[in-house]
Amino acid sequence: MRTLNELVVIPGPNAASLSKSIALLSGAALSNVHRKIFPDGEIYVRLEHIYLNKPHRALIVSSMYPNQASSFLETMLLIDASKRHGASEVIALIPYIAFSRQDKVFLSGEPISIEVILKGLYLSGASHLITADIHNPKSLREFPGTFTNVMVSDILVRESLKYVDNPIILAPDIGALERASFAAKKHGLDFDYLVKTRDKASGEVTYEPREVNLSGRNIVIVDDIISTGGTIAESTKVCLSRGALSIVVVATHSLFVGGARDRIINAGVKKIITTNTVPVIKDEAVEVIDISERLVEAIRELTES
Ligand code: R5P
Repeated sequence: MRTLNELVVIPGPNAASLSKSIALLSGAALSNVHRKIFPDGEIYVRLEHIYLNKPHRALIVSSMYPNQASSFLETMLLIDASKRHGASEVIALIPYIAFSRQDKVFLSGEPISIEVILKGLYLSGASHLITADIHNPKSLREFPGTFTNVMVSDILVRESLKYVDNPIILAPDIGALERASFAAKKHGLDFDYLVKTRDKASGEVTYEPREVNLSGRNIVIVDDIISTGGTIAESTKVCLSRGALSIVVVATHSLFVGGARDRIINAGVKKIITTNTVPVIKDEAVEVIDISERLVEAIRELTES
């Protein structure tokens, strides 16, 4: 394995373990970050590494869940500190980018939150952004620097094949179709999507299956985010009511808000397979796949090109 010379991994919020793994796999140096919260609640960070004030490239590794707002701010502070202390280039590796679902104005008066996040990262000094399976890849066009969106649904679907034979890969809505079809095509599997309708004012969601015969088939539902688990639980119920044999869920970012995990399992899901883009606790129903290697591939493509 080639070493990424002078690349320093800076561990950002919620990413201590991921940062270690990225540094180990890439051969890059791992910085220490001294952080504290002032009595009035303000965040303080200070970088501690041997390349400080010497030429290097900084790789800030952050996950923006939990504590999305403060994680965003801390990431920007780390980017700024790197730029001020020798980093010729700052790459932000943020596998889970929060606020990505507010990617357009749904109701008059709303902001486009993801644009604020992307511009904030750039203005702080990040010239390249690497993310994993962002909610809407088109959002990244608003990042003024260069960017990489690492797809991982194929890794998750490959893992799902340990539990189900010849499944249909199903997106719970058309927005998730690209990541479902990407994985399905890699593994030579059928794919389809459910038609999801959300009432803009009440937020109530209904699902209608397309003209796909789910009867007697194993299903792997592919999504980017599990938050409350509502989308997956409702999709599962639709599949089972149409005669599906078994349901496995693969999702890149499992926030598991409240009782999301139980809600999904109680709806009839056999297994949830997810990644380590956010901290997740694994158990008998939840399998966590480390995607560090794929992230390191993206770093190498960027830094060795
Ligand atoms: C929505 O478009 C996303 O892709 C996810 O399906 C959604 O955010 C999941 O949220 P929840 O788990 O709360 O239904």
